[in-house]
Amino acid sequence: MIQSSQSISSSSQNNPDRQEAKTIRVALPANPYDIRLIAAGLDAIGSHLSVAQLGSKLGKKIAVVSNPEIFNLYGDRVLASLEQAGFETLSYCFEPGETHKTFASVQGLFDALLAARFERSSTLLALGGGIVGDMTGFAAATWLRGLNFVQVPTSLLAMVDASVGGKTGVNHPQGKNLIGAFYQPKLVMIDPDVLATLPEREFRAGMAEVIKYGVIWDADLFAQLEAADRLDTIEAIDPTFLLDILGRSTQAKADVVIQDEKEGGLRAILNYGHTIGHALESLTGYRAINHGEAVAIGMVAVARIMVHMGLWDGATEARQLAVIQKAGLPTTLPEGVPVREIVDRLKTDKKVQDGRVRFIVSKAIGSAFVTDSVTDDLVTTALETLTA
Ligand code: GLY
Repeated sequence: MIQSSQSISSSSQNNPDRQEAKTIRVALPANPYDIRLIAAGLDAIGSHLSVAQLGSKLGKKIAVVSNPEIFNLYGDRVLASLEQAGFETLSYCFEPGETHKTFASVQGLFDALLAARFERSSTLLALGGGIVGDMTGFAAATWLRGLNFVQVPTSLLAMVDASVGGKTGVNHPQGKNLIGAFYQPKLVMIDPDVLATLPEREFRAGMAEVIKYGVIWDADLFAQLEAADRLDTIEAIDPTFLLDILGRSTQAKADVVIQDEKEGGLRAILNYGHTIGHALESLTGYRAINHGEAVAIGMVAVARIMVHMGLWDGATEARQLAVIQKAGLPTTLPEGVPVREIVDRLKTDKKVQDGRVRFIVSKAIGSAFVTDSVTDDLVTTALETLTA
């Protein structure tokens, strides 16, 4: 096993106890990179892309790829920092939303890169949530067979999950993320300050993924979440605690990705709660509930299944439920989605192998494994207890 390393440095002038920066190394053999968590990191991104800081030389041209809303909030700061560091910048915005996560949208970016004469040494910087990151990464992976790629995630979900690990892609009309590539960034720069402008519902959605890491990988993280007074709004979360849960979550993701970059085995555990979650998202047309909410319900459902399988006791299930409720996330099935249809939809999951639906389950908080031995009857019984 290759280890990732974590270093912590404190740089606050006003409060010496406040940790404002952490670096987590994603020590992949061929494509190692840092996740840097830095308050006000947006204003320092240019210097973090220097040879000295990055360890490799980027070409002069860099495109900041975003969506209009995020770009209006943060684009100027990122461009200023890059220009100050001597980069020639281009900015490009995708239309926002899952419906625009298409090959056609990426084609628009390709046209702009062609017009601006981007070269292989040039860089695409994704400034946004998971959709912007996935599409920009896909463009970086494929244009001229590979440009440099930098992730600057602006949603909690993208910070703790989508921006780390190199999954990039776009949707096909028949399904989410069916077209894509594994393509690792050169750097992930996380500025926790940008979460101040994230809508609360999206913050809670990201918290579902944080809870996931606690359950599948990091029992101490789970204990911290249990001990917190509130998890449902960024305003109630102390900056030091926020940096800690961001650090622990990204460390968990890095640990898993280092051991299984291309999802040959272990990486599948990152899909805890996602098997049923994906079915719920697709049955509600990706509108009624968001990804994190669907994962939250999926985690509640799989906990029921685990109790039936004798993997968890009722007390462990209750602990998970309490944390999910504290994060203000839903714990019952959305209205109008029949249990039978959810069970049928599971069969179309990307992770189905040899016709068997695979679930991520756990024997104890802090660990997880994949199983294909969950029967339809068991899923049905569990889901029937989750109706509001
Ligand atoms: N979001 C799951 C993964 O990156 O594998």
